[in-house]
Amino acid sequence: MIQFNDAWLSESVKESSYATRTRATEALLEVQKGICQGSDYIGWFNYPKKSGFSELNIVSNAIGNLEVDYDTIVVIGIGGSYLGTRAVSEALGHRYIDHVKTSNKPIIYCGHHLSESELLETLDLLETRLPLVTVISKSGTTTEPGIAFRIIRKFMEDKFGLDEARRRIVAITDPEKGALREVANREGYLSFDIPPDVGGRYSVLSPVGIVPLLLAGYDVSAMMEGAHLLFSSIEESSEQELAGHPVVTYAAARFAAYQQGHSIELLAYAEPKLGMLVEWWKQLFGESEGKEGKGIFPAGLAYTTDLHSLGQLAQEGERNLFETFLIFEQYTSADAKGLERRLKVPQMSDNQDMLGYLETRYVEDVNAAAVRGTKVAHHDGGVPCMELRLKKLDAFNLGVLIAFFEAACAVGGGLLGVNAFDQPGVEEYKRNLFGLLGKPGFEEVGRKIRERFID
Ligand code: PA5
Repeated sequence: MIQFNDAWLSESVKESSYATRTRATEALLEVQKGICQGSDYIGWFNYPKKSGFSELNIVSNAIGNLEVDYDTIVVIGIGGSYLGTRAVSEALGHRYIDHVKTSNKPIIYCGHHLSESELLETLDLLETRLPLVTVISKSGTTTEPGIAFRIIRKFMEDKFGLDEARRRIVAITDPEKGALREVANREGYLSFDIPPDVGGRYSVLSPVGIVPLLLAGYDVSAMMEGAHLLFSSIEESSEQELAGHPVVTYAAARFAAYQQGHSIELLAYAEPKLGMLVEWWKQLFGESEGKEGKGIFPAGLAYTTDLHSLGQLAQEGERNLFETFLIFEQYTSADAKGLERRLKVPQMSDNQDMLGYLETRYVEDVNAAAVRGTKVAHHDGGVPCMELRLKKLDAFNLGVLIAFFEAACAVGGGLLGVNAFDQPGVEEYKRNLFGLLGKPGFEEVGRKIRERFID
């Protein structure tokens, strides 16, 4: 399923991580029993069994009954309302999905920024497409997706007319509260509920991820099965077995590294398609653990690209890092007909480029050797390193990994003694933004900022 290997940790981190496993197991049991901090928001735990599989059926049927042709999905959302979908679609989809024919439909993301130029360019692109819009916001009141949706909704109504625009918009939001729920009900959009007990960054297995990923043709069923397998492996383990479960051993090792002054976790990956998965992971851990003056800073390193930039810092810079290598044993890319293929370094009659020693070897084998060499180099350079290993990069294993990181993150919160399911710090910037923009009720906040700081 997923293997954790700590062979490249320093002896002192390793020793301390073994000692932490008992507490990490307790923290996992507290989540499982619903008695951890923030237990109102642990609906994500074991979600496939509780609701995921049935949600999947409901969404599949509703999508099957859609009466519009579409060639492009638009996802409007920010943070947990878009990162999971983007992580999965980019990990599984063709890198150049917009330029080559594949069985998946392209997804265009907006609502995760406030860039006027990017919104204008999104509209340019949508002019050439038959879009189906999914607007996703748990609170239904977040500024970035709110503005993007107003713009896209106007565009859709102008382009298709009110009736067809309504059939081309799907809303995913709180079952009862928030402005988006009100709009969806009033306009009669097809809509799905985000479970109230599942926070944004833990929501990819709920309709937040299910709807856009199904619309774009990804194998959500396999992803759900993978997540189910991981959660079941926790549920079916005895307390003693849990102490050796990869969720516990990974969480304990990162906490041990943190306690010894390694406060930055580098998640290293050697497949460019995993870039957004690492962004999702950054949000999950950063927003869950970073509170009360505590928290491990999550950063991503893309190999081998970053070995030619940040690799120097990792090797010889300040020793405040630890590194987790995320390895899939098989990365493949299917052709337009869905057939898998591989790529070898070709034979050449001359050896002018001096690469003859690599002839007929798979490019991925060279990649794996680079990662292996880096792990040893960074270990020797004083970076505690560990590895998470899965079989093939596919929907099933992504489901395993998503559930794995969600559970490990909850354990991380327990070890740090923080609530891993709220995000009080995010509210501070939102209040200032509302104040500066003159949102009714926030005028005083804006006035105080202007008094203190002159731009
Ligand atoms: O994890 C979280 O709860 C947040 O990052 C949210 O996902 C993000 O702020 C978007 O919120 P909403 O879905 O309410 O628009």
